[in-house]
Amino acid sequence: MKPFEVLLDQQTIARRIREIGQQISSDYAGKSLVLLGVMKGAVVFLADLMRVINLPVEIELVSASSYRAGKKPSENLFVEGIDKLRLANRDVLIVEGIVDSGRTAIAIEEAVRQQEPGSIEIVTLVDKPGSHRSALSIKYKGFTVGNEFVIGFGLDNTQKYRNLPYIGRMVDTE
Ligand code: IMP
Ligand code: MG
Repeated sequence: MKPFEVLLDQQTIARRIREIGQQISSDYAGKSLVLLGVMKGAVVFLADLMRVINLPVEIELVSASSYRAGKKPSENLFVEGIDKLRLANRDVLIVEGIVDSGRTAIAIEEAVRQQEPGSIEIVTLVDKPGSHRSALSIKYKGFTVGNEFVIGFGLDNTQKYRNLPYIGRMVDTE
């Protein structure tokens, strides 16, 4: 195991998710809310968030991955699972574990928009505003972090640590 330290403990995260859930419950009362979780990083947040929203919510899951054309890392993102969804006129809330450059959120927003939903917004558990590469409007955010790598509560480092029940910060030991 690489060393890490606790950044946000379980109680702090739970309290914040409850607040966001209450806000969403009041903002979306009477609407047709679909929580669109972005795998894999959002699954833990989504599971907790949906249980503190006091509305008849539906959930869907999509996944996003970068793909490479040839040797150069492509700027394009491949979004999987949106085509078969029926989002027309629905109020879609994209649920992210973490927003870094914002490329993933923008690609998903773009794909959702093609289905002509009633509205599209973004909620993320963690935001890294210092890393956004283009203007991005995030309606709800749990926590803001700086230029550091965080793990746990769904967030990974090479697919590990997603199961940590809190958010940690990788510690540089050189
Ligand atoms: P984007 O740059 O906003 O498109 O985010 C791309 C992806 O990078 C996120 O969905 C995460 O999977 C990953 N990522 C970025 N920063 C972190 C971090 O601090 N911890 C874990 N994953 C991260
Ligand atoms: Mg990752």
